[in-house]
Amino acid sequence: MAGRSFTDAVRERLGDVGWLDRSEIDAALVDFRGVFTGEAIGMARPSSTAEVSDVVRLAVEHDVAIVTQGGNTGLSGGAVPAAPTANDDRPRVILSLTRMREIEDVNVDRGTITAQAGVTIEALQQRAADVGRLFAPDWGARGSATLGGAVSTNAGGINVVKHGNMREHVLGLEVVMADGRVWDGLRSLPKDNSGFDLKQLFISGEGTIGIVTRAVVTIHPRPAAQRVAFASLRSLDALNDLMTLARTSTPGALSAIELIPEVGVAQVVERFGVQRPLESIAEWYVLVRYDSAGEPVDPGDDLTSLLTDAMSCDLISDGVVASTPAQEANLWLMRDELTATRSFGGFGVKYDLAIPPDRIAEFLRAAEALVDTIVDDALSFAFGHVGDGNLHFTVLTPDRDDGPLEAAAPVLRAALDGLVWEFDGTISAEHGLGRELRDRIVGQKSEVELDLMRSIKHALDPDDRLNPGVMLPSAPLPGVMLPSAPLPGAHHS
Ligand code: LAC
Ligand code: ZN
Repeated sequence: MAGRSFTDAVRERLGDVGWLDRSEIDAALVDFRGVFTGEAIGMARPSSTAEVSDVVRLAVEHDVAIVTQGGNTGLSGGAVPAAPTANDDRPRVILSLTRMREIEDVNVDRGTITAQAGVTIEALQQRAADVGRLFAPDWGARGSATLGGAVSTNAGGINVVKHGNMREHVLGLEVVMADGRVWDGLRSLPKDNSGFDLKQLFISGEGTIGIVTRAVVTIHPRPAAQRVAFASLRSLDALNDLMTLARTSTPGALSAIELIPEVGVAQVVERFGVQRPLESIAEWYVLVRYDSAGEPVDPGDDLTSLLTDAMSCDLISDGVVASTPAQEANLWLMRDELTATRSFGGFGVKYDLAIPPDRIAEFLRAAEALVDTIVDDALSFAFGHVGDGNLHFTVLTPDRDDGPLEAAAPVLRAALDGLVWEFDGTISAEHGLGRELRDRIVGQKSEVELDLMRSIKHALDPDDRLNPGVMLPSAPLPGVMLPSAPLPGAHHS
């Protein structure tokens, strides 16, 4: 009933174009992989920050919970509303900012773009390219992932090794708070030490403490040229030395370094008709990209000497520098499609983990040994952003009944989570916690840290109105007392 009058009120405020009924939002109630499903009474589609604010105020009035959704390409379930529960039966509404996709300002002198949250990553990249600049954040879902989602998850991707995460690209934010107030933090200062750096809370806040509506992001000079090489590692133990060589051989040139396993290449070649980059077969490959800042314009020679040096140090057994745009595109297509083959269509226990980059080989050996003690004949499939120590690691039992692996999954996850922490790592490097990891993260963080996280949530969203069931662990820790009333002095209408 509350949902019904909320619907009418939103329709009245936003017009028909601003509201989609339950029957029209099936695609928004499941993530793109079909892993997380949920429920909502409809989708509000505001076209301005003022409208977002009004939708939030109406949600407060009608006691509706708000789940903000960007491109719905997240991998942790943070943007799909969980169905109401016995403990929390408030209706959920999806808030989509797809009508707010304006690029409002491009300032080449400052090196900034100001845009609304619903703009896609690809549109930002294109706009930056139009003025001869680079918007560096990049990953496979660039065409649908939005600025707001990328900020809210502190998304990473293939360019992090040179340019950093989304966090390193945000100078300012505009955020609608849980009570409908608007925080205008749209600054564009590279330096600002005037108190708490509040924007950092909303970057990676997964929509749980505020709704990002606009951002000022940085753009960089465009490299004069880029070239990509593909090489076969002698063994995984050569990875660390190869990464060091790739960074030092031509200082500043390295702009991407991705680990690719033969099982992944075989899958992508078979499913997507991608061409095999090398005739020889190895267990592991590395994709390396070099940028050039100016002279010499073509970094191909630097990449060739990297491969020659790596060969003479016995780090690689074969390698090729892509020499045509088509070859380059083929290599990136292969890399992007690894995401899609991550479970070969079957069940997989999947990780977006990070460990110190120099311990990758050691970690993967330990992980495989651990998996073998829990599941028979499982295959470990690892790829990703090794320059950042970030591995997309999946355990599979391909061509077999998935039942035993599914049954073993809880034990396997607990063991692997523990191993990641033993390596001083994290079980969420770039995908966030979402619904998937909110409870598993408890083992990674101290009570103090969890308590601080809850205190921030409580201070900014005391009614748990924004993205309930996401990011924060479900149960309070024993002995941790949450304030039951708003903090003194906090006022929310
Ligand atoms: C990728 C996703 C899984 O790097 O983050 O393909
Ligand atoms: Zn990734």
